[in-house]
Amino acid sequence: MTDQTPAAPLPVLKPGAIPVAPGPFTLAIDIGGSHVKASVLDRDGTLIAREVRVATPRPATPRAVLQAIAGLVAELPPYDRISAGFPGYIRRGRVATAPNLGTKAWAGFRLDQGLQKRLKKPTRVLNDADVQGLGAISGHGIEVVLTLGTGIGSALFHDGALMPHLELGQHPIAKGKTYDRYLGNAALKHKGPKRWNHRLKKAIEIVRTLTNFDTLHLGGGNVRLIDFHLPPHVKRAANIEGITGGVRLWDPSFDAFFAEPRRRKRR
Ligand code: BGC
Repeated sequence: MTDQTPAAPLPVLKPGAIPVAPGPFTLAIDIGGSHVKASVLDRDGTLIAREVRVATPRPATPRAVLQAIAGLVAELPPYDRISAGFPGYIRRGRVATAPNLGTKAWAGFRLDQGLQKRLKKPTRVLNDADVQGLGAISGHGIEVVLTLGTGIGSALFHDGALMPHLELGQHPIAKGKTYDRYLGNAALKHKGPKRWNHRLKKAIEIVRTLTNFDTLHLGGGNVRLIDFHLPPHVKRAANIEGITGGVRLWDPSFDAFFAEPRRRKRR
């Protein structure tokens, strides 16, 4: 007999119910090549509001993206601090590259300061695949994250510690093509899902040889298009982890990542 019991209705939070969740509250933002998403997390990384999203503005200048984020924040509950995942190489809050937004417009921009000034709370920013990884990993052994979207994000962890700035997206994988050009959205559109799946299979084995991962997590919007049985030690990550991973940026173990470098004393 099949279970015909209707699904229980989702609980409706009464006004004033939210503060029961434990703070501090983190506004978590995922800046992507096609969408900007945001929500607010409690101390443990649980969403206290539904995720809100908007199409990434074009041209995706810093000003336009900050404006889009401010629009999303207006729909969300209050927060104490901010975390953001950015689709490029970013170090101590300063953007170096933004392949799918426009490096020319972004290079040198202090995204942490831009967000902090606009939204008035302390801010930490990391690469988007690093943030997704922080939401997805188990903390055991070598874990690699690949995100399959407009561009290809990559992150590497050892026993839960982030080895930052791995940019496979900009690294050649085949015939002079970078992972972005080989597996990103444009390639998927151009080659179709069958060829794209074939390429992904090859890429998984190349990344296995490159990193000797214990676990590979596959995230990003295009994970839903995978049509083959995943090989050993390869798992799907949930998209929401690009948001929930944001809470981890405030772990004390990350303080050094965001501290200004100390000046070396001259001898
Ligand atoms: C960038 C990465 C980013 C990825 C996903 C690539 O084009 O090089 O830094 O993580 O896209 O957004």
